[in-house]
Amino acid sequence: MASLRVRVAGVELENPLMNASGLYGSKPELLLRVAEAGAGALVTKTFTYMPLPGYPTPIAVPVECGLINAVGLRNTGIDGLRNLLDRLKGVGKPVVVSIAAASIREAEVLAAVAEEHGAALIEVNASCPHSPVHGGSPARHLRLLGAVVEAAASTTTIPVGVKLGVMDNLVDVAAEMLERGARFLTLINTVKAMKIDVYTRRPVLGHGVGGLSGKAIHPVAVAAVYMVYRELRPCIIGVGGVEDWRDAVELMLAGASAVQVGTATIKGLHVFREIVDGIRGYLEKEGYRSVEEIIGAALA
Ligand SMILES: Cc1cc2nc3c(=O)[nH]c(=O)nc-3n(C[C@H](O)[C@H](O)[C@H](O)COP(=O)(O)O)c2cc1C
Repeated sequence: MASLRVRVAGVELENPLMNASGLYGSKPELLLRVAEAGAGALVTKTFTYMPLPGYPTPIAVPVECGLINAVGLRNTGIDGLRNLLDRLKGVGKPVVVSIAAASIREAEVLAAVAEEHGAALIEVNASCPHSPVHGGSPARHLRLLGAVVEAAASTTTIPVGVKLGVMDNLVDVAAEMLERGARFLTLINTVKAMKIDVYTRRPVLGHGVGGLSGKAIHPVAVAAVYMVYRELRPCIIGVGGVEDWRDAVELMLAGASAVQVGTATIKGLHVFREIVDGIRGYLEKEGYRSVEEIIGAALA
């Protein structure tokens, strides 16, 4: 049988699939369900140092081609992160902790807590498209981001990566993050988007602008992974609009070592088993012995 084992920055996963941050990642009982559903790793919601209340409702609106959300990084802060990780002890799958820091000190503390409480990897969320601090304005934000990544990476012994969104200078920013100590990149986050109600003549979301996820952004994610892998050959976790095994394989062919599933999990966690089985079937039909053989194969 073809092997589905992959490594992300040296951490071994039984298969390349994980939930995307923000979906099933804020409560231990939900992440335990993701584990049971067959994901190879579990990803927490993004945690900040202080709790955040999130944006006013409505926080999400379905559109034809996906979902627009502006949750506003609602989370229970560093104490919530500790509790979550303690309740995941013994889960038997690597836990990826997503953090967002507004200062070097916050990055150090969040990273230290993540490692002490059992995280296998840390994903620095730098790409929330509707947050002024954690992804909003690139220039100011990127200066801080480099320092945040460096601080997290030098505080811990576990690999630290950065989650980046689509932007014109994505390859340059990715290169800079790798120089500052990032051991993997997660690509991509949601894409800035908005829906207006034609009768109220007002934005539908409480925050106005949000981020588009789901099917519509899949080709955008494939291009982002492909371009960054082509130039830099880093370890990449691909994410964006993955709904079935073909989408996951496509991201891996573009250069991703692992794949996250976000919006598609809303329809049910059975998606993990279906994608895992589908990838295995593809590998066997195409004569591969290991899923690692297809990583970046579109560039071979
Ligand atoms: C409701 C919702 C909440 C999200 N919250 C986070 C978050 O806290 N941190 C983060 O890095 N990404 C967050 N994301 C972005 C996803 O992790 C993912 O990058 C994006 O949705 C694209 O993947 P998808 O098309 O499979 O959903 C969120 C997405 C959605 C739909």
